[in-house]
Amino acid sequence: MSAARTAAPAAAADRGAGPDSGFPAGSAGSTGSAGGVAGAVAARHLTDLFGDRRPAVHDLYDEVGGPIYHDISRRDPHEIRQVLAAVRAVPGPVLDLAAGSGRLTVPLLALGRPVTALELSPTMRSLLAGRLAELPAAARARCRVVADDMRTFVLPERFGAVVLATTTISLFDAPDRARVLERIRAHLAPHGRLLLSTVEIVPGAPTDSRTPLTGAGGRAYRLHERVDPAAGVRSVVIHPDPPAPDGPVCAGTVRILRPDKVTAELARHGLAVRSVEAMPTGSSRYRDWMIVAEAATASVEPAGIEPASVEPAGVEPVGAGR
Ligand SMILES: C[S@@+](CC[C@H](N)C(=O)[O-])C[C@H]1O[C@@H](n2cnc3c(N)ncnc32)[C@H](O)[C@@H]1O
Repeated sequence: MSAARTAAPAAAADRGAGPDSGFPAGSAGSTGSAGGVAGAVAARHLTDLFGDRRPAVHDLYDEVGGPIYHDISRRDPHEIRQVLAAVRAVPGPVLDLAAGSGRLTVPLLALGRPVTALELSPTMRSLLAGRLAELPAAARARCRVVADDMRTFVLPERFGAVVLATTTISLFDAPDRARVLERIRAHLAPHGRLLLSTVEIVPGAPTDSRTPLTGAGGRAYRLHERVDPAAGVRSVVIHPDPPAPDGPVCAGTVRILRPDKVTAELARHGLAVRSVEAMPTGSSRYRDWMIVAEAATASVEPAGIEPASVEPAGVEPVGAGR
């Protein structure tokens, strides 16, 4: 099982943004407020796991959850081979959207291409800066870290490849997915490609699962997942194993987006699907898909003029709270 694919979407989803989340209150996409059906699924899941003694719950990308996500995902190879193969097929600079702590950014840099890593969470950018600092100077010099929201970002150039992996698209509701895809389309060079992954649940799979995970630092974690097919969401809870009475516990819900739904949305944004490839999951519960879509013609809208906030690679990020 892929820790990153499982934990990542677990991460954000519909949880409330707050002072600790690293996201401005009300910023959706990653961590919009857990209302409605998704919120109810998550609340029931947490109550079933912890009863009335439920500890404080964190977002997986905030200052508590971010280091846990980083530890779990750091050595996770899921999707990397497919992403690198698809990026190699097109020339030009690469945009790693929702770069997190650099799970994909670092292998992308090894291709020798310029890579822009865009990430909203200050904690994740700080962890990314730490990873970049371990790289040779030449690789670091090819990387630009941008603190911005992928629903609204504006960068001066267009990219040969835009990577939106680790099922990050599942963090967004339909209106926000439309905003993300519009921004991606505006930043793709003619014939540039979007590489996007999504996950669907195998029909009839058990709704609840518990999985032991080991972080890169050797720490043990427990991952709990609950799928609610009727609600179209997956609730995910992660905590160190054994759990401490006062936490930390990280939780979230993410949407379940079938590849046909995603490809229809891509088509509506002028992104022609070139391939939909099944990826190995190591799980009978999930099907993971890598979708490659191409911008057939130049976008009519200029990509933009100025990035919102650019951080030199390997330097402590600024602009927290964006
Ligand atoms: C599923 S993780 C993927 C991280 C990394 N690409 C990886 O493979 O490990 C999703 C990332 O999206 C970031 N994120 C969530 N909402 C965002 C937004 N609106 N704009 C930019 N980044 C966002 C989160 O902070 C998190 O780092």
